[in-house]
Amino acid sequence: MNFELSQDHRVLQDAVRDFVEKEIKPIAAQIDEEHQIPDTLVRKMGEMGFMGSYLPEQYGGAGLDMLSYAIVVEEVSKACGSSGVLISAHTSLCCGPIYTFGTEEQKKKWLPALNSGDIIGCFLLTEPDAGSDAGAIATTYRREGDEFVLNGSKIFITNGGYRGTGVVFATSDKSLKHKGVSAFIIDLRSHGVEILKNEKKLGIRGSYTTAFALDNVRIPAENLLGQEGQGFKIAMDTLNGGRIGIASQALGIAEGAFERALAYSKERKQFGAPICDLQAIQFKLADMWAKIEISKLMTYKAAWLKDNKKNYTMESAMCKMLASEAATFVSHQAIQIHGGYGFICDYEVERMYRDAKITEIYEGTNEVQRVVISKLLLS
Ligand code: CAA
Repeated sequence: MNFELSQDHRVLQDAVRDFVEKEIKPIAAQIDEEHQIPDTLVRKMGEMGFMGSYLPEQYGGAGLDMLSYAIVVEEVSKACGSSGVLISAHTSLCCGPIYTFGTEEQKKKWLPALNSGDIIGCFLLTEPDAGSDAGAIATTYRREGDEFVLNGSKIFITNGGYRGTGVVFATSDKSLKHKGVSAFIIDLRSHGVEILKNEKKLGIRGSYTTAFALDNVRIPAENLLGQEGQGFKIAMDTLNGGRIGIASQALGIAEGAFERALAYSKERKQFGAPICDLQAIQFKLADMWAKIEISKLMTYKAAWLKDNKKNYTMESAMCKMLASEAATFVSHQAIQIHGGYGFICDYEVERMYRDAKITEIYEGTNEVQRVVISKLLLS
């Protein structure tokens, strides 16, 4: 067993850290305040290969592996959770299923512009009455000649505000539940696709969370992803991979908050000495670090399993659950260590605390992760 990163992974980690230090850290607070990631940053991340890290070079990807992708999302999220989820949702939830389930023509048509970051991808599954119960989606499709016609609504769509490319799920017959669901590649600038709103949120404010209406949207038949009726399987498989991305985002947020708390505990003097001399602070740092390390081990293991074509369903649910709970715990403790300063916006831990919360919710609440884990244990 070797727990060391390879030389290639370490080189990548250094390069991403360098980029984040120069290009993301200085504007992370601005991204939060302005509720937007500058297009110039999105373009630069595309140029760095962050938007298609584990996709093959023949489709415009960086040709790296899943562990590299986890490292990219983790390092970016140390400075900015919004930028981390932009990459994660785009790569895992849009490029991922097109690569895994798409035909050769679909991959050649859609992936290059996505992998370069010229077009931003998203995943349109959730609906007002179908959140955790993903099999209950009510958006319908019907075939008309060479087209599928979609009607319904989608909510909480990460990256939706870019109106790029999406993988959208619809049912031919709601009474069929999972078996009626199909997946389609959708151009979100198509006629009939309307943005209802971009949500205002507690955290990850630089990331779009969009509600769409789909009103007689005509999708060419060639955009069917996989087979008709295979959509629920595509959604579940995609979320298994996506959960590694969210775990990496959560891990990064936790590490970012920890770094700032550790540094602050050495600078801040109370009772005539740095507060890191107090056992009350030392115990917090120990708990925070232990949760980060266990999350990192499980996240990297899930990525390694995927890279090695082994089953990783349980590990992806576990890493997403552990890392997101570490992120909320660590950022909470980081504020506590900062005392009153942690509560004001000048100190970044306040933003990290807000950004951490969503990681316990999206790509399945942690209650859903526990369902996935326990079903596998009992099966
Ligand atoms: N991997 C592979 N297959 C899976 C699976 C998984 N994780 N979970 C279920 N399945 C399969 C089952 O094996 C079963 O297959 P068969 O029909 O062949 O037997 C089928 O799917 C139905 O399974 P269940 O009966 O267990 O399904 P269920 O209706 O009870 O739901 C669930 C299971 C785990 C709760 C699932 O609905 C789920 O994952 N819900 C959460 C949805 C979610 O994560 N939404 C997030 C939206 S995207 C997002 O948040 C992205 C973002 O913005 C960043």
